[in-house]
Amino acid sequence: MCGIVGYVGPKSTVDVLIGGLRRLEYRGYDSAGVSIISPLGGLETRKKAGKLANLEASITEHQLPISHIGIGHTRWATHGAPTDGNAHPHLGGEHQKLSLIHNGIIENFAELKAELVAYGTKFASETDSEVAAHLIAREFDASGDLPTAFATVVNRLHGAFTILVIHEDQPDVVLAARRNAPLVIGLGDGENFLGSDVAAFVEHTKRAISVGQDEIVILRADSVEVRTFDGKPVVSEEFTVDWDASAASKGGWSSFMAKEIADQPQAVADTLMGRIDSDGLVTLEEIDGLDEAAIRSLERIIIVACGTASYAGDIAKYAIEKWARVPVQVELSHEFRYRDPILTRNTLIVAISQSGETMDTLMATRFAKDKGARVLAICNTQGATLARESDAVIYTHAGPEVAVASTKALTAQMTAGYLLALFLAQVRQTLPAIQLSAFGKELLKMPARVTRVLDNLDDVRALGREMSNAKSVLFLGRNVGFPVAMEGALKLKELAYIHAEGFAAGELKHGPIALIEEGQPVIVLVPSPRDAETLQPKVISNIQEIRARGAKVIAIAEEGDTAVSDYAEHVIYIPQSASMFAPILSVIPLQVFALELSTAKGLDVDQPRNLAKSVTVE
Ligand code: F6R
Repeated sequence: MCGIVGYVGPKSTVDVLIGGLRRLEYRGYDSAGVSIISPLGGLETRKKAGKLANLEASITEHQLPISHIGIGHTRWATHGAPTDGNAHPHLGGEHQKLSLIHNGIIENFAELKAELVAYGTKFASETDSEVAAHLIAREFDASGDLPTAFATVVNRLHGAFTILVIHEDQPDVVLAARRNAPLVIGLGDGENFLGSDVAAFVEHTKRAISVGQDEIVILRADSVEVRTFDGKPVVSEEFTVDWDASAASKGGWSSFMAKEIADQPQAVADTLMGRIDSDGLVTLEEIDGLDEAAIRSLERIIIVACGTASYAGDIAKYAIEKWARVPVQVELSHEFRYRDPILTRNTLIVAISQSGETMDTLMATRFAKDKGARVLAICNTQGATLARESDAVIYTHAGPEVAVASTKALTAQMTAGYLLALFLAQVRQTLPAIQLSAFGKELLKMPARVTRVLDNLDDVRALGREMSNAKSVLFLGRNVGFPVAMEGALKLKELAYIHAEGFAAGELKHGPIALIEEGQPVIVLVPSPRDAETLQPKVISNIQEIRARGAKVIAIAEEGDTAVSDYAEHVIYIPQSASMFAPILSVIPLQVFALELSTAKGLDVDQPRNLAKSVTVE
């Protein structure tokens, strides 16, 4: 949560900061602010509650001076309401010459604040962050050395933080520190950047360095120095950003979410690219860190993830257990971490995260590593903390996902899960070569099938609009359809703010069927009738049970399953595929349904209330 950007160089700093914040706004949109140092007038700060547009309007009305150094912040509130006063940057020192922005939570802020109050420091906000601004200003006044003062203070902070600081008396340097919150450096020619992620600066440079845990950055226009919190120099590895600036713009679509839904054939194709050979066999060079002997001796896989990513994990569980015959459990990261799970060297943790910065997932993987387990990440963001801290990474190549609600990252995560399952089955020799090859080849056909789903969604759109007054929608699925049902419900809750629940269809009769009354909309994921192990007749029975009690059924079924139309008010058909792969197709109508319903209600689909994309607090 919270987006951070810093710049030093010849360009118009306000433009660079606002451009960066625009791309980072998905991280939080409760308030936004910038500070710059003008060569003539010193430090200038502007901040506004509400979305970035409010700050932009204020700057348009009263221009900020030309400057070549500055910091900017977009906030997801933790301590203190989303007001102008609590917006970042926060100023420190008697003469307010220091400006600070912060992402994270300073856990010992009360103790530090008490210390400052005893010195007579006056506070302008209710935030934990302002404490750090005053402490650094005090240290600097005492020592006259800004990097030393900065290091002294960050060493005293507990919790999670990325902090950026500028000071009027040192107008050529931005200082940054990172602990448990993301920070990336962008390397330019005579200019340098800092950002919560590469989206902050990708339109200016693709050369980047991911800052490590407990590291400090001293950033000038012509130099970048990285040190540990205790002052040791760090040699950082540079990487090239493989996202295009245009990939992070709406490109004519009504919303980022609409664009990202449409990006899915590409996201799936890019995630498959180079990973399935002409014989249909999977090559995953990225997981060389996990040697074949280790894969053969695996006793258990634990998938950790949150929200939508956890549903990708649920689907991977079905595939891995069925094909690679390793027991898999899927755990919400925040629950896993605190229940003292049993882990051995032969347990593989698979951490799934679009951002690679979700604090709950990071804490779960750190805990597992401490206990001796190996960690494989499935991650969409280059240079993310999760990727850095894992033994191996399978990158999903969905490109930047800006809308808060995850869409293309999910279908890319599902794709990576299938690749992993097939790879494990290959190494462990648990599936005949002919089947491995058939599944690999079929996976390669999925991008074209996703395109076909996207081309036939007019009925779903109409349904979404028609149902904009619904008070509650239920989703039912079985087998791999169950996590899809959960995802359909999550999308509707977060985008349209209406009650929605996803159930395992077989569980209905054990309680939830009591919710069914006349007119209750229920969306049912119907399994393929072609599958030898098909559950389709059982799901049809479940449909009958709810219809008998008044439910209005919308079925998502496979092309050719004509029988379903007798049991449902509406049927949305998706192309035929192996049952295991159906979620990549069946989730798309549910995404579009939620998008349409939310739009019909006049809501902001890209930035739903109370949410932020990257949840960097526990
Ligand atoms: C829902 C959504 C969230 C994320 C979850 C994990 O649409 O986007 O549920 O899936 O916060 O985020 P990552 O994948 O970044 O770890």
